[in-house]
Amino acid sequence: MAGRIGRILITEDELRQRVKELGEQITKDYEGKPLLLVGILKGSVVFMADLMREIKTDCKIDFMSVSSYGSGTVTSGEVQIILDLRKPIQNYDLLIVEDILDSGVTLSYLRQLLSARGPKSIKICTLLYKPDRRKCDIKPDYCGFTIPDEFVIGYGLDVDEKYRNLPYVGIYEPDAE
Ligand code: IMP
Ligand code: MG
Repeated sequence: MAGRIGRILITEDELRQRVKELGEQITKDYEGKPLLLVGILKGSVVFMADLMREIKTDCKIDFMSVSSYGSGTVTSGEVQIILDLRKPIQNYDLLIVEDILDSGVTLSYLRQLLSARGPKSIKICTLLYKPDRRKCDIKPDYCGFTIPDEFVIGYGLDVDEKYRNLPYVGIYEPDAE
């Protein structure tokens, strides 16, 4: 899909500041607990890398990869596990780290799947949250920014795998047909 980078929605400074605050909150909440951060590939990699360095209590990390979108910008409603966790999670307090909660299809599916494996607890930390688009009964426990219903790119988020490397979050402007 052809298009371009539109206006910047969240700057590098705003991202840095907010991720620091989230890290401080998570540090307090999980002090002394067996925290396992589960990053959802690929969108969460940049957020995960920054967030984990702002968490000042012991934690481990792992990754899962799921796909729900195909190559378009509207959810297909189907979630497919492409890469699963390698180890059992019963002994951990899980924090799922995701780039964005949009329709919520991906995260409700994942939360259900991982809850069934019996972790000590399970919560969700998402950098971005688009409440206008929510289709499932799910809300993030930790949220970086609530954003309007715009398709965004950068800081891990893509369109057809492009733009993940932008250091800020921008609005994607598709070309007119
Ligand atoms: P959901 O299942 O509809 O909540 O979608 C979650 C996934 O869709 C995210 O992990 C993203 O990969 C993708 N996604 C949703 N909205 C956007 C967006 O505005 N920009 C880029 N990717 C998005
Ligand atoms: Mg994506």
